[in-house]
Amino acid sequence: MEAEPAPELKTARELLLRAHRVCVLTGAGMSAESGIPTFRDAQTGLWARFNPMQLASPEGFRANPSLVWDWYASRREAMRAVQPNAGHLALARFAHEHPGRLSIVTQNVDDLHQRAGSVDVIRLHGDIMQNSWLDPCPRDPACDTDRATPTRPPRCADCGNPVRPGVVWFGEMLPVAALSAAEQLAQSCDLMLVVGTSGAVYPAAGLAHLARRSGAQVLIVNPEPSEIDDQAHLLLRGTAARLLPLLFNPN
Ligand code: OAD
Repeated sequence: MEAEPAPELKTARELLLRAHRVCVLTGAGMSAESGIPTFRDAQTGLWARFNPMQLASPEGFRANPSLVWDWYASRREAMRAVQPNAGHLALARFAHEHPGRLSIVTQNVDDLHQRAGSVDVIRLHGDIMQNSWLDPCPRDPACDTDRATPTRPPRCADCGNPVRPGVVWFGEMLPVAALSAAEQLAQSCDLMLVVGTSGAVYPAAGLAHLARRSGAQVLIVNPEPSEIDDQAHLLLRGTAARLLPLLFNPN
């Protein structure tokens, strides 16, 4: 016989049942059980082992382009090797079975939501598999990054402009269209489900505040406290791959 769900899980299910529009905000913890390290975990987080200003800023890339290029190349390789977890799959399945009811806004630069079958995922921090030029290409149309030199990093054969990964670095603006679409979802949802983020990075973390101010219920799934716990009406302490299937597909 299956154990009775914890009272918080039961309440969370009721919130979900009542919600017409669910906005899910995900962070690195969403992909942790797929085998991708988070950033701020004290033991295993990337920023516990690496310097973010060296590896995730335009200045760091200019100072040591091959080091930064190689670091992203190894992260790309690691991400290609992993699979969506039960949490990604539960979100994709619910959205498929309830068209128009659930949208995902992610801070993750992996493609695990998409590979789980979620469509129209808003990516606030870019896509690690994409390439772009470090400096805007002055040509019209812009030179194709696929035709760059086979160096580390690849460079424009004419001007030497290096290729960089398509992620948002510290000190950079988020993609305007993605942020504005995410803000609209946060303002119009009646349930915001925040999964696996420390809530330490803005403007992404501000979406939970915006949803709450706009009248949504805020539900946080995280095994640890986060910096935006004060925004939550309900906290589920546990991991994404364990709790999301229980929440979305209880039978
Ligand atoms: P963090 O590393 O800051 O936080 C990860 C969160 O996931 C923590 O609160 C953990 O407790 C939680 N967590 C760990 N394992 C989990 C699991 N299995 N299930 C659920 N939660 C779990 O990652 P983010 O909040 O995503 O920026 O970080 C925000 C941004 O900072 C990232 O997008 C990245 C980074 O610098 C860019 O790439 C631009």
